[in-house]
Amino acid sequence: MAEMSLDKIARLAGEGKAAIAAAKSRAELEQARVSYLGREGKFTAILRSIGQLPADVRPKAGQEANRARAALEEAIEQRRRQLAAEEAAGPADQLDVTLPGVGVEVGHRHPLMTTLERILEIFVGLGYEVMQGPEVEWFTLNWTALNYPPDHPAMDEQDSFYVTDQIMLRTQTSTTQVRAMRARHEESCPVRGLDPRYPPQEVLAQCRCTPAPTRVVVPGRTYRRESVTLTHNDVFHQLEGLLVDEGITFADLNGTLAAFLRAYLGPWTRIRFRPDFFPFTEPSADFSVNCELCEGDGCRFCKDSGWVEIGGSGMVHPNVLIAGGYDPERVSGFAFGFGVERIAQRRFEIPHIRTLYENDMRFLRQF
Ligand code: DAH
Repeated sequence: MAEMSLDKIARLAGEGKAAIAAAKSRAELEQARVSYLGREGKFTAILRSIGQLPADVRPKAGQEANRARAALEEAIEQRRRQLAAEEAAGPADQLDVTLPGVGVEVGHRHPLMTTLERILEIFVGLGYEVMQGPEVEWFTLNWTALNYPPDHPAMDEQDSFYVTDQIMLRTQTSTTQVRAMRARHEESCPVRGLDPRYPPQEVLAQCRCTPAPTRVVVPGRTYRRESVTLTHNDVFHQLEGLLVDEGITFADLNGTLAAFLRAYLGPWTRIRFRPDFFPFTEPSADFSVNCELCEGDGCRFCKDSGWVEIGGSGMVHPNVLIAGGYDPERVSGFAFGFGVERIAQRRFEIPHIRTLYENDMRFLRQF
């Protein structure tokens, strides 16, 4: 009987401890307490039965039972504190919002694009519309409509990539001059459905309409079979400008380019025009700005001249106006074109054009 009691005490004490440890809430813990130590509890029943044990084993069983009860009470108290602490901390899988986060690297605009955006912003401010043309272009729009006679040596200056003998990658955004003028012409002219290729003169001769003025800037990629140097690459970006209206003169061209370059590069920028030749403008001029890298002393970037050539310009040739659907007797226009990389290189003091295409993070992170 005595052995039985001691065994039973140990077994119940073990079960009780397991039930206490398994309690997942304060309510479950209270249930466990009641079922072992409550008035009707299993352990309470044992404690009561000790009085009926034979006198020789009673003290030992009593001691064991009291120790086990104290242990159970202690276990209940411990578990209660644990549950309270867990409740205060929240569920174990909850996000700890105080942990330092993993940084997300945010991308940003490429220096070439921020350059282009700033350029366009200035021209839009001057009243120009932004237009784009295709990079894969008709041979006739890249050359013929721009007044390049067949086999003219000027074509050799822009070695080209051909897709077929009629289709090529455009070597210059000037192609879009004719597209822009024709778009204007089509808006006002009853003679529709012009052949997208050249020449449309027979059609244009039939109409006597006067299209609205054209004021566009055309940003875009251009392609040339060039060897890569500090300032030349086989793919690059150009910005073309074209203004056609009544009474436009070279002074308007001069003033427009000066306004743009000073807005972009700073009010003290010096600008130089020199006579040049382009088949689609007459007269033609290239334009340069003072070199800021060497401040005029001469460096590799300005080829020791103190000047950096920006682009070409001129008064639109009558044949180009005709190709665009304008009557050169009634309107005149100016055009200009320049490389965007050249401007970005100057703006950010980037000596080598290729750095703009390599996507080297060490370079890009600087902007
Ligand atoms: N298209 C010429 C080039 O790529 C640049 C140019 C020169 C554009 C004179 C023009 C212009 O509009 O009038 O070299």
